[in-house]
Amino acid sequence: MSHTKNLSDLFYLFDIDVSAVENMRKHFHEEMLRGLSGQTSSLKMLPAFVTRSQGKESGHFLAIDLGGTNLRVLLATLDGMGNSVVDTVKKVTLSRNIMQGTTEELFDFIALCVSEFLNENDISKNVNYHLGFTFSFPVEQISVNSGKLIQWTKGFSIKDGINEDAVILLNKAFKRRQLNNIQISALVNDTVGTLMEESYSNSNCDMGVILGTGTNACYLEKTENIKKLQIHFSKPTMVIDMEWGDFNGYNGTSYDTILDETSINPGEQIFEKMVSGMYLGELSRLIICDMINKKFLFNIIVSHAFTRNGFLETEDMALVAADNTDSLAKTEEFLVKAGITDSTIYDRKTLKEIFFIVSKRAARIAAAAVVSVVLWMDPLLTKKHLIAVDGTVFAKYPLFKQNMEDLLSEYLKDKKHLINLTHTKDGSGKGAAITAAVAYNILRTNAKN
Ligand code: GLC
Repeated sequence: MSHTKNLSDLFYLFDIDVSAVENMRKHFHEEMLRGLSGQTSSLKMLPAFVTRSQGKESGHFLAIDLGGTNLRVLLATLDGMGNSVVDTVKKVTLSRNIMQGTTEELFDFIALCVSEFLNENDISKNVNYHLGFTFSFPVEQISVNSGKLIQWTKGFSIKDGINEDAVILLNKAFKRRQLNNIQISALVNDTVGTLMEESYSNSNCDMGVILGTGTNACYLEKTENIKKLQIHFSKPTMVIDMEWGDFNGYNGTSYDTILDETSINPGEQIFEKMVSGMYLGELSRLIICDMINKKFLFNIIVSHAFTRNGFLETEDMALVAADNTDSLAKTEEFLVKAGITDSTIYDRKTLKEIFFIVSKRAARIAAAAVVSVVLWMDPLLTKKHLIAVDGTVFAKYPLFKQNMEDLLSEYLKDKKHLINLTHTKDGSGKGAAITAAVAYNILRTNAKN
């Protein structure tokens, strides 16, 4: 682990080859086993108390999606034949005050948005609705609609709420707003929503992955393998929210160490800090600063924008990565805005190359994690696995999916065709509505018996 001297050093430092994947797979399986048996593990392996959708659920369901920088409220219709549509949606950006305030402020804000959503769309407050609540944080669930928050992640640093039940908190906020017609039927992680959304129309899907502001995955586990499970679950399979963002079995570089040490949650979410949109910009910024200091990049001695923590966003990286003009004109435009007016073509190419190296490693270790989970479910890789993936990094970052596919090909060779990555849109919205429907059906069946 050392700082880079130049670009080719950086390339090797951020490389992940087949033997590194094999190593990571072993670590992954050890941690999965520990997590499933209730031992300390960097993979929390949280039971979601829900199984895959059968594609037959139908009706109108509400959903709330909380977990990134936006809050969304939506109404979705499921037709019972594998089709789900969002009828109407309200999206608001969360202010820093809300993301770093108290749980009461956060949940009151959600209830206010739901109330406005119902009013704006003439949705009667006298008709009962079931709601799926996508709450994309690590939660220890004890049923499909209750669970205690383990920790805040992704820039949320709310002062309280740990160990509190997210559904109770939301219910209380609903009561304060007189929203008495909404029953929270499912508490859903975004990975689970993504798996539910894809499996609603495709029965090959057994894994959901988010590659966005944060990163995480869930998959379908045999209930009998969940040794730590103390509550009876009647189905033979259950979805497990792995919380792989916290995985600590892949060694990073000294840049990763600095990023971690200067973050708001040092020592936590180590894997997420190498892979997800919240951090890739900052990681690249640290490398750029190092290169500027060593005079490999930009002719500037005075203080510059890159010295500012958080200055570089993953979105900026994506913009540069997509710049295919000969003179890298869009990159130049971005640099000028950052106050660097005299960049050379060499500087701009180097910048693009740094972003490529950082995003390529992210894609390759994300793919290594995917293949590790698939080989856990199916050690000899005997059948097809459809992996539902959502999140801005996967959907928008140039070549991200391609880089993931390349790793899968190198590692799996002629079996690569058995793992397919598909972009599943809006698992946190539609998927939450589907989960609410699945949960409601289970409740109805239990009530009849
Ligand atoms: C963070 C959260 C996790 C979520 C992921 C993607 O890692 O802890 O629950 O699924 O981000 O949004």
